Amino acid sequence: MDTTTAQESLWLLDARRQHPLAADTAVDVAVVGAGVVGVTTALLLKQAGLRVALVEADRVGSGASGNNTAKVTALQATVYSEIRKAHDADAAADYAAASLAGVARVAALAGGVDCDLRRMPAYTYAQTRDEVAAVDQEADAASDAGLPVARDRGELLGVPFEVYHAVRLDDQLALHPVKYLRALAQQVDGDGSHVFEGSRVTGIESGDPCQVHTGSGTVVADRVVVATHFPLLDRAAYFARLETTRAYCVAARLRSGAPPTGLGISAGSPSWSLATHGDLLIVSGQSHSTGSPEGEPYRVLADFAREHWDVAAFTHRWSAQDVVAFDKLPMVGTYAPGSDRLHVATGFRKWGLSGGTFAALALTGALTGSPQPWADRFSPHRLSLRSAPTLLRKNAEVVVDLVGDRLKPGEAASPDDVPRGSGRLVRQGLGKVGVFRDDDGALHAVSARCTHLGCLVRFNDAERSWDCPCHGSRFGVDGEVLEGPASTPLPTRDLGGSGSADSPAPSGG
Ligand code: FES
Repeated sequence: MDTTTAQESLWLLDARRQHPLAADTAVDVAVVGAGVVGVTTALLLKQAGLRVALVEADRVGSGASGNNTAKVTALQATVYSEIRKAHDADAAADYAAASLAGVARVAALAGGVDCDLRRMPAYTYAQTRDEVAAVDQEADAASDAGLPVARDRGELLGVPFEVYHAVRLDDQLALHPVKYLRALAQQVDGDGSHVFEGSRVTGIESGDPCQVHTGSGTVVADRVVVATHFPLLDRAAYFARLETTRAYCVAARLRSGAPPTGLGISAGSPSWSLATHGDLLIVSGQSHSTGSPEGEPYRVLADFAREHWDVAAFTHRWSAQDVVAFDKLPMVGTYAPGSDRLHVATGFRKWGLSGGTFAALALTGALTGSPQPWADRFSPHRLSLRSAPTLLRKNAEVVVDLVGDRLKPGEAASPDDVPRGSGRLVRQGLGKVGVFRDDDGALHAVSARCTHLGCLVRFNDAERSWDCPCHGSRFGVDGEVLEGPASTPLPTRDLGGSGSADSPAPSGG
C-alpha cells in the first residue's frame, strides 16, 4: 500500500449537497437516513402515492451504503447454513425469498439509471481444501431455501488461483452504490416530497402526529422510518441485541491480467471477498468485532492482492461497520411493540444492498397495507430460543468489559510513551484518558469512557479512531461521534502539560 492510495471509498462522489431542512415541513412519512433502506423506502412510498421527507445528516449514500463492496446478491457467504442453524429451514427459506425480492427490485430500479450496473454470477468458494465442506453445506442450505444454485470449481469467477469447490448463483448484480442511490434520491425529491441533506436529526417524538426535529426545522409526519444503520434513539435496547463488526476494502489497478468476472467470497475464516468495478480489482475482508482491532488489515489485503494479481497500484482503501443481530436475521418492522408510528430496519450484516432493499419492500408493505409474505420473520420483537444463549453470553461479555477494564493498568505509562500516528490509554488519577499523537507530534486527549454506557474505548490504528468494544460506537481522535449508538462526543481532556512532541515513531513506520 503506497502513500498515494486514496484513504476513502471508491464510491464516495463529490456531489453537491441538496438543500438542508430550513423550515417546518409536513408529510405523510418521514424517513431518517439516506442509505439503501432510507432512499429505497422513500422512493417506494412516493410511488405508492405518499408524501415523504428523506432526512440525512450528511449526504445521500455517505454512510455504510457508500463504504461497501457494491455486491447485490442473494448468495452471501455461508448465511443460509448459519440461519438454518440459528433458526430452522423455514427461516432460511424466508431469507432467500426476501433476498431474491431485494435483488430483483434493485435490478428494476437500477435498470433505468446511470449506475454502472452489471450482471454477474455470485460465488461462495473454497480458498483452501479445508473450506470444501463448508461450501458443500452452504450449497445444500441455499438450494433447500429455494435459491437456484449450482456447484462448480469457480470457472465463472475468473480468478488466477485454484478454487477447490464453489457454489454459484447466476444473474446477481454489481453497481456503483452511490450513483445508484443519488439517482433514486433525485426521483424522491419533488411533487410534495423532499430530500434534506446536511440535516442531523436531534430527536423524534412518536406522537400523533410524529415530529422529527433537526437543528434547523421539524418534519411533522404520520409515520417515521428510522433507517440509520444502527438505530437512532435506541429506545428499545437494540444495543443489547445487535453487535457490530468492521471490515476493510482495497481497490487495485492491475498491470496485466484481469480482475474477477464474478462476485466471490471464500467460506472460511478469514474470508476473502472479491469484486470488480471497471478495470479495478476490489479485495475486502479482515473483519473483526468493533473495538478489537487486529494487526494491519490494509496491508494483509494488499499482500493477498499482490500474491494473486499483477498489481500496478492501489487506488483506494476504505472500511465499513456492519451491524449483526444476535440471531443473524435483519430486524425490520415496528420500532417498539405496541406502536406502529415508528418503524426501523437494521442488522443486514455485510449484505445491505440486497437486505436493505428487501427491508424497504417490507416497510413499504407495512405502511401501505400490503405486507410482504415473509415480513413477519424479520420482526425486531421476535424471540429466538436457540439464540438466547448467544445473547446472554454477549451481554455478559459487555459487563466484563465494563467492570474489568476499570481495574487494568493503562496501555502507556504516560503520554510521552504514545508513538506518533497511534493512540494509547493512559491512566490519569482514578480514570483513563485516550491519548493520540498525530504525525506532527501534537497530543489529542479525550475521556476513554464511551458516552453510550461507559465501556472503555480502544484505539484503531488502521482508521485512527477510538472504537468501543461493547456496542460499536466510534469516535474521532478529538472525540467526535463517527458511529452510534453513542450520540455524545467523548469529552476532551487536559493532560496538564504532560507529554512532549518528541516521542518515538511507531514501529513499522
Ligand atoms: Fe455501548 Fe460504548 S457503544 S458502551
